[in-house]
Amino acid sequence: MKSTNKFGMFIHWGLYSIPAVHEQILARYDLPSAEYEKYKDQFNPVEYDPEEWVLLAKRAGMEYICITTKHHDGFCMWDTKQTDYNIMNTPYGKDVIRMLADACHKHGMLLSFYYSNPDWHHPKGYNPISTHQWKSVNIGGEVDTEGYREFVKAQVRELLTNYGPIYTFFWDIPSKLYDPSLNELVRELQPGIIINDRGWSEGDFATPERELDKIEGARFSKLTEACNSLGEQSWGYRSGEDFYSIRYLTSAIDRIMAMGGSYLLNVGPDSLGRITSDYSTRLERIGDWYNRMKGALVCHEREELPLRVLHGDCILTRKEGKTYLHFYNGTISSAALVEGAPSLPKSVTLLNTGEALPFAIEKTPDEFSMETGIAVTLLRIHGIPIDELSAEAVVIEIEW
Ligand code: GLC
Repeated sequence: MKSTNKFGMFIHWGLYSIPAVHEQILARYDLPSAEYEKYKDQFNPVEYDPEEWVLLAKRAGMEYICITTKHHDGFCMWDTKQTDYNIMNTPYGKDVIRMLADACHKHGMLLSFYYSNPDWHHPKGYNPISTHQWKSVNIGGEVDTEGYREFVKAQVRELLTNYGPIYTFFWDIPSKLYDPSLNELVRELQPGIIINDRGWSEGDFATPERELDKIEGARFSKLTEACNSLGEQSWGYRSGEDFYSIRYLTSAIDRIMAMGGSYLLNVGPDSLGRITSDYSTRLERIGDWYNRMKGALVCHEREELPLRVLHGDCILTRKEGKTYLHFYNGTISSAALVEGAPSLPKSVTLLNTGEALPFAIEKTPDEFSMETGIAVTLLRIHGIPIDELSAEAVVIEIEW
């Protein structure tokens, strides 16, 4: 089956951009609620220009943006009628989700919504059988998930009615209470929407996060969207963040997308509404790599030819009759050795540079059969400028 995978921008933005530590600072640093909630009276992102964000995402080759409409703190970034704890009651006083939706629609960018099930502000938001709940005392200790579900539904109705077509819905933190009526509502309001697996019933796609070590195989068996932040410590804006290397991220994106998954790469805009250069320069560099790879990373199929790559971590895909070798951790030498080539290729291209690579079907002295001791015949692609490419995942295109 052909994948319909995409590269997207994840955006974690909320009051937590003011302390600039972590999106869950309230719980992780055990702040008194009243102290945290004061940020509402300070939030004034006067530099917010959603078109800039959309154009940055576009330049990076991204096809959708998924933004936090409400994180665990319960603060709502849109003009919701269900609580006063929302963006309209800040000094800024404008619906930032509406502004982003308008910019996305203007520039043909798909828009997705993140919505947190835990709500550390709502008096009925405590759900003891789920994770990421905060001390019940801070929200009055009342447990009434049914009452809370009505609130969630009313908010979902607003989000999925008032902001045009929504591409995917990203629930966060599964509630562990089974209630299919929430996803039914989502689908009723936005037929065709794709829902993740962190809601109140099964969704459409899996959401591995920051856990590349646990991923196995060469192809996802179900719809998958992996996510990661540019920063290692936080999803929200963090001053002095520890950033992942470009090499690590291109390797992760290549691997996940070659397996047929989508990839959401997160930025945390600051309290003035800027995607600061710490984040944007890294995104531009990743985008520069991604744009050279994009054709090979989207809408491909599993390679059915019985090819075997002898060295290095490699995933093989196929698209329009061409084979792609995704060396997501780079090749280990300046050559790629492939067993089982059906014929001599017409051409071989290194997508990182766009240049043709020399190749031949031949024997190489160090690859021989243990049984006969005789060198085996291989497709040998060579001349890969591997040391110049050490900061990137490497992709090779073979045209047969
Ligand atoms: C983790 C974090 C949460 C973040 C989410 C994004 O669950 O704890 O804060 O929003 O990842 O997928």
